[in-house]
Amino acid sequence: MSKSKNTYTRLLIVSYRLPFSIQPTDDGPALRQNSGGLVSAVLSMAERMGQQPGNTSTKIHWVGHADASLRAVEPALLENESFVAHPVFMEEAVHKGFYEGFSNDLLWPLFHYFTSYASFNERDFSHYQQANTRFLEELNALIEPGDLVWIHDFQLMLLPDMVRKAIPSATIGYFFHIPFPTYEIIKLLPRTWRQVLIEGVLGADVIGFHTADYVQHFMHSVSEVLALPIIGHRIVLADRSVSVRHFPISVDFTKFNVSGQETDVVSTRLRYQRLLRHNKLIFSVDRLDYTKGIRYRLQGYERFLLQQPDWHGRVALVMTVVPSRDKIGQYQELKREIEETVGRINGLFGSIGWRPIVYSYASLTFTELMALYTACDVALITPIRDGMNLVAKEFVASRSDQAGVLILSELAGAAQELQEALIINPTDTQEVADAIEQALIMPKQEQSARMEQMRCHIQNHNVFRWSHDFLNAFDNVPGAEPDLETN
Ligand code: G6P
Repeated sequence: MSKSKNTYTRLLIVSYRLPFSIQPTDDGPALRQNSGGLVSAVLSMAERMGQQPGNTSTKIHWVGHADASLRAVEPALLENESFVAHPVFMEEAVHKGFYEGFSNDLLWPLFHYFTSYASFNERDFSHYQQANTRFLEELNALIEPGDLVWIHDFQLMLLPDMVRKAIPSATIGYFFHIPFPTYEIIKLLPRTWRQVLIEGVLGADVIGFHTADYVQHFMHSVSEVLALPIIGHRIVLADRSVSVRHFPISVDFTKFNVSGQETDVVSTRLRYQRLLRHNKLIFSVDRLDYTKGIRYRLQGYERFLLQQPDWHGRVALVMTVVPSRDKIGQYQELKREIEETVGRINGLFGSIGWRPIVYSYASLTFTELMALYTACDVALITPIRDGMNLVAKEFVASRSDQAGVLILSELAGAAQELQEALIINPTDTQEVADAIEQALIMPKQEQSARMEQMRCHIQNHNVFRWSHDFLNAFDNVPGAEPDLETN
């Protein structure tokens, strides 16, 4: 394999949230990073960059909005052996308009095709611009020649262009973690907003999406909104070109594959199995969000229970909803509705010894999540729209026993890769009910054949490959040639 010169010295990650908190340790408070896939992927990327000759710093700088726990913290504490955290603080009103308003009350519903939930508010747009500028200010103080800046997600669409204007020679990557919708949806945005948002992301050298469809939708919007020439996967600007590709995000396969055997996971699993004795288990976990199809999921399960009385007392849906964005009206309303429906279904079908739905509104620890992934017979994942859906991939990666059935919505990005799942349309509640029955009676051999294919795919397309492929895409950026040999 050819060897190329690496001109990057440091990796600067920018995302809305900082994936850190300050935790007490025996030596006093210290910076602890979350165990999310993005953090592992970024660490592995930095390890590779750290191997390059002439690279003086292997620490990753991460710029992001911080929660209150980081506000009063000494700068020296914002660092550990791998990361330096750079919290971005902003006025509460600006943050509210940027995060609750423009990001989560407009871009999120619109880009997930929930057009009637979208609220168009000029002040929110101005706060979104101001917040992106705050991120720029933080980066500006940090960025040095040779840095690779990798910006993430829909909250920061303006930032790539802001960085480009401030530092024209910067090398910038941008990854979009949610669906990019068709131009018909983008057209709902006021002309100046859609123009500024698309110009904003075009400040990057490489733009990544999860699926080929999202890339196509983006390209269409670029040609409609800005009438720029497109050659293959490149958008041609006056003085440079931008590469736009799909890179499906994934999980740390090995971590999920081996954790099922850890002592605390085994004991938690046994405890759950004892508590939910004799029942076949269907598991679902999502952030509280209307895009996740929780309403339809409950309707599909109710229909299954109505049509299949033989299963009463023998199956339970263990449904965890993780608290999220609970200051936003739509989310509060959804929570109320879910809880009413769960209560109604349990009241209608349950008995003294049997609860059809075991519901909790809580965050799960990694151990609890692993115990549920490996204890359940079926994972029921029914989003109405989802950029990727990593729960589906985590479930498959955790099933080293090759057992269990994945029921997956065709509207999740993950369905394009996990074709051996039982693929359903979440709004077709009869299809969901039928898939539940099919999953519960599926012979072990068929479960294992389906699992094996999906596991093999995720093992080969894990989160490290995702970040390496993204980094590889910079090969053609003039002046930035990372050494990305793979063995
Ligand atoms: C999605 C988005 C992320 C976001 C996460 C949690 O996965 O793509 O950008 O951070 O949801 O949402 P929150 O609003 O709590 O950050």
